Amino acid sequence: MTTAAASPHTMNTYGRLPVALSHGKGLRVWDTDGKCYLDGLAGIAVNTLGHAHPKLTPALQDQIGKMIHSCNYYHVPNQEALAAKLVELSGMTNVFFCNSGLEANEAALKLARKFGHGKGIEKPEIVVYEKSFHGRSIATLAATGNEKIKEGFGPLPEGFVRVPVNDIEALKKATHGNKNIAAVFLETIQGEGGVQPFRAQYLKDVRAVCDANDWLLMIDEVQCGMGRTGKWFAHQWADILPDVMPLAKGLGSGVPIGAVVAGPKAANIFQPGNHGTTFGGNPLAMRAGVETIRIMEEDGLLANAAKVGAHLRAALERELAGVAGVKEIRGQGLMVGIELDRGCGVIMNRALDAGLLLSVTADSVVRLVPPLIITEAEADEIVAILVPIIKTFLAEKV
Ligand SMILES: Cc1ncc(COP(=O)(O)O)c(C=O)c1O
Repeated sequence: MTTAAASPHTMNTYGRLPVALSHGKGLRVWDTDGKCYLDGLAGIAVNTLGHAHPKLTPALQDQIGKMIHSCNYYHVPNQEALAAKLVELSGMTNVFFCNSGLEANEAALKLARKFGHGKGIEKPEIVVYEKSFHGRSIATLAATGNEKIKEGFGPLPEGFVRVPVNDIEALKKATHGNKNIAAVFLETIQGEGGVQPFRAQYLKDVRAVCDANDWLLMIDEVQCGMGRTGKWFAHQWADILPDVMPLAKGLGSGVPIGAVVAGPKAANIFQPGNHGTTFGGNPLAMRAGVETIRIMEEDGLLANAAKVGAHLRAALERELAGVAGVKEIRGQGLMVGIELDRGCGVIMNRALDAGLLLSVTADSVVRLVPPLIITEAEADEIVAILVPIIKTFLAEKV
């Protein structure tokens, strides 16, 4: 039987590629037929430490031998340890733990609404962005700026005002005189929207607008956070502080985890009974978070993300310079998007055949989000595989 047989018993939610991955080591993974791939995707920006990391694996084994789950009726020591670390790294004050990106964003949306109600706003509204992606629950779908994935799920919650990215005048115009606004919600670098960064000046301007109006600034760092850009959180390049910051993906290096980090303006909005989750903050996920950050610090992975990211980007720019059909290469650190002038989903299949994992997002953007342990030599290997694929694809008749 081939490893990648169709799945008759799982729901038909994914158009899966015909490969089943079985194990990995560092930046390499193997499928069940023994073929080796270079991992330029990290499970969609999740496997911060790559696969089977020699420091993370024994720590998780140790934790599983002690306790996987307790529950939030009791204290979980590593919740406090991980929260303290996230507070230190972010400059914010308090953390709520959950299990995924959408859950972190759902909590952020609840914080914004309760913040609004606390100010006497009966129907609080939240500013969100075109092409944003915040998750697939009913509320995070409503916040998301992709109409296609909302189809068939209405009615979605109201209370969102949508604006274009990087246009501060549009934001001011859309919110002018609206006393119901409670928060602005954005991804520092839109991931699913095509690796689309917000400009530093725009982020500073939004911070100022939020301060002037007493709105929460909520920054979704689920994909671009946790060191991927070379700073702990991508908004730190703009030297601003959010009031609310959802995290997930890379925080647990593969163990499911989510977190909402809050600054003073949002830290005390939730009181007992307002929000909760059975699995959130469980001992296994907390240990994964604590160890991921510890190893990142020990091994200098922020600096590595910045260095190898710049190397990767420079190599792509050099190799793809002047190639007709390449519109833009953008991103920061190890979050890189190559925008082509046409839909290019097939590049994902061709890269797979050639032994490289990556994804295509927003239809026409080849996305690389490799593990943060990547070396320059491995980045060169990615470029050597990917560039001919892109060139061949673009040379084909449309
Ligand atoms: C910026 C951002 N927010 C939220 C999510 C949703 O996270 P999850 O898939 O863990 O629910 C994603 C997932 O891609 C994301 O990129």
